[in-house]
Amino acid sequence: MEFRYSEKVKQMKPSIIRELLKQMNDPSLISFAGGNPAAESFPIDAIRQFSDELLSQDPIGALQYSVTEGYPPLRQAVREYANREFPVVTAQDDLIITSGSQQIIEFMTKLLCNEGDVVAVEEPAFLGAYNSIRSFGAKLAGVPLQPDGVDLACLEQVFAQQKPKFFYCIPNFQNPTGYTTSLEKRKAIYELAVKYQVPILEDDPYGALRICGEALPPIKHFDTQGAVVYAGSFSKVLCPGMRLAFCAGDADLIGKMVVAKQGSDVHTNIWAQRVCERILTQIDLDRHFAYLQAIYREKAEYMMQQLDERLSGRIHYNKPQGGMFLWVTLPDSVDAAEFVQRCLQKKLAVVPGSAFYTTDVPCQSIRLNFSTPTKEQIAKGVEIMDSVLRELGA
Ligand SMILES: Cc1ncc(COP(=O)(O)O)c(C=O)c1O
Repeated sequence: MEFRYSEKVKQMKPSIIRELLKQMNDPSLISFAGGNPAAESFPIDAIRQFSDELLSQDPIGALQYSVTEGYPPLRQAVREYANREFPVVTAQDDLIITSGSQQIIEFMTKLLCNEGDVVAVEEPAFLGAYNSIRSFGAKLAGVPLQPDGVDLACLEQVFAQQKPKFFYCIPNFQNPTGYTTSLEKRKAIYELAVKYQVPILEDDPYGALRICGEALPPIKHFDTQGAVVYAGSFSKVLCPGMRLAFCAGDADLIGKMVVAKQGSDVHTNIWAQRVCERILTQIDLDRHFAYLQAIYREKAEYMMQQLDERLSGRIHYNKPQGGMFLWVTLPDSVDAAEFVQRCLQKKLAVVPGSAFYTTDVPCQSIRLNFSTPTKEQIAKGVEIMDSVLRELGA
């Protein structure tokens, strides 16, 4: 049978990362390419204990259909959780529990975009967001990202000239760059959004994974106009397999998301929601976060130390304040695509930076993930990078 695919599907591109990860069955391959959280950070004992308790105390409640907005006690717990460091979710906001924050990006596009509409995005940024937005026939307007956040002049130009339906950004420890948007730029982005009436989708899956520096308020914290839609995720703070995230913002918009979700997956896994509610209300979250941060700090520092010892003077990167990634720029004399291929031949997977752009552009950077490899793998992987750079004359 020949399937007559829609025009929208033809625009979708397979994720280069997923393609790379297909080779991961090879146990000798070292991966700096993935985006998985550190497995040792998962609160397995708490998940097991609360799951057992739930299934013995209220098995039907854990296994029956449930409401689309999300389990009410979890929604209440999430309001408190989201406001732990800075007030983010206000009394006027509504909140929906979703199947990962990927679903929030999908719903936002589905609700706001007709085919051909423009969505402004940080560039480079999370490929999964680009693909989801593209799958609705929307066009991406990339706004260059600088180490302290997007280029504000370009953002204003895109807002003024292209009238995007929304602006997608990741202010904390961005994927793929690890960059953190400064406080000044957070405020300025909000002001531009209000001035040009462009809603912001603030995607914050990594905020809790801070390894150094002061916490900054999310853009949503400054929002008095209902202009910011905040996406939080439990994928990196608990585990991604539970597929739990939340979206907070304007009550009318969230109400429409509820309708979209009814037609998509009815509700988020209720067993996982109820386990999560117990975790949020019964474990010591400060301790859990400190534990997560210690794991990520150790891994990030080790990778940076290895890079500094072996590759200093040849590569360049900005020290991230958190998250899971280092954005490493190769010397100009090195062909980045060739570098990635040769690393793969020597059994090291890294992601070419070009994968995170809206168009096919040359890019001298690569994304390195430090959350999944072991220290031994980090050391070996950096050794491979060193030998490939030498082969390429750098
Ligand atoms: C910036 C960003 N947003 C959203 C997601 C999707 O996360 P979730 O597991 O919550 O769907 C990811 C996943 O890596 C991500 O990097």
